[in-house]
This record gives sequence, C-alpha cells and structure tokens, in this order.
Amino acid sequence: MVKIAPSILSADFGNLYEDIAKVEKAGADYLHIDVMDGHFVPNITIGPLVVEALRSKSSLVFDIHLMIENPDIYIPAFANAGADIITVHAEACIHLHRTIQNIKSHGVKAAVALNPATSLDILEYVLNDVDMVLLMTVNPGFGGQKFIDGSLNKIQKLRDIVNSRGIDVEIEVDGGINLNNVKEVVDAGANVIVAGSAIFGSTDVEKTIRNFKELVI
Ligand code: DX5
Ligand code: ZN
Repeated sequence: MVKIAPSILSADFGNLYEDIAKVEKAGADYLHIDVMDGHFVPNITIGPLVVEALRSKSSLVFDIHLMIENPDIYIPAFANAGADIITVHAEACIHLHRTIQNIKSHGVKAAVALNPATSLDILEYVLNDVDMVLLMTVNPGFGGQKFIDGSLNKIQKLRDIVNSRGIDVEIEVDGGINLNNVKEVVDAGANVIVAGSAIFGSTDVEKTIRNFKELVI
C-alpha cells in the first residue's frame, strides 16, 4: 500500500495544529517533519521541542527527516520527543552504520536519505539494516522546488535492489511531487510519498490528500 506523508514545511506555522488535524482527518499516513540546521542545508526549521508539542496533538506516524550535521547528537532528543521514524542523510554521517544502530537503540525505525547526486552504492552494506530509504528528488533545503527528472531511474534501480534482496524496506521520495507526477513515481517503485507545497499550498488540503490517494491505489 502506498502511503502519503504531508510535509509540514509548507504548512501554516501559525496554525500548525489545525493544519495537521486537517491532513490527519483526510487520511494521511505519515507526518513528514523536516528538521534543518542551517549548516547541512541553507535553511533552519524546527527542533525537538516543537516535535514534542505536536506529539500530544496527533497520532500520525512522525517521520522525522534530519537535514543536519552531526545527527547522532540529536537522535536521543528526537526519539524522546516522539519520533516514530528518524531519517539521517548518508552525506552527513561519517559512521553511517553506527548512526543507524543508534536510532534503533531508541526503539525508533531507522531510515537513510540520499541527495540527488549521491549514488545508491552507499547503501550496499546498510540496506538490510534500515526500515526505509528516502530518495531526495530535489536538493534538500526548501519546499516548492521542481522534481529532478533523472530521479525516476534511481527509484526504479532501488526498487529492483530491494526486491531482489527480498527485504522489507520502504522507499520514500521527497521533493517536487504533485498530482501530475505522483503516479510515475509510484510506478517506478516508491511507496511513501512526501508532498509539501502540493498539499498545503492547495486550496482544499483534505481534497488534495484524497486525490493523491485515489491516484496511487
Ligand atoms: C526539502 C524537504 C521536503 C519539502 C518538500 O528539503 O525535505 O520534505 O518539504 O516540499 P515539496 O513537496 O514542496 O517539494
Ligand atoms: Zn523532507
């Protein structure tokens, strides 16, 4: 089953609870929370305090996308704040295997994200240890960017590898996904769809989520 993960980066931060309640009511599966530190990416967003505050208001799966340097330092704080899945960027981890074990040691699902320019090869020796791989389909840092077309091929390649290993690893895609290209992305092999501006930038958030779900059945 394909899952929809609205990214709150494009939500109204002055009315975050209301926006989250809308996507939850509309049947979203994961809540994608983008954490940026102004170093790994040129933007700053939210930290564990906000995640903790949202936790008491929502029962969605909290999918925390860490776009930060030295993620190991902050993994305990995000786990305690209520993360269900923590994703780290391979490019930010010197000891990626150790970082994955660190996430799991907190009872949280572990995922690895790859920037558009990063090869799938880096997954070779960790793929069997993760619950999910996040393929960036834009360069991380901002919502509302254009989907990088060459990404479809990368999604397909990863799907083939996951299937040939016979492992249960989700493939999440993030960046520039909308109602016009979501089907192609799912056909290529993705099963968790992040969408920020396409959902929160639409006039009817609940209807847009329902439209996404209809397209990926
Ligand atoms: C970008 C973030 C994304 C972003 C996606 O660095 O990781 O999650 O919110 O936004 P859209 O769907 O607008 O490209
Ligand atoms: Zn993200």
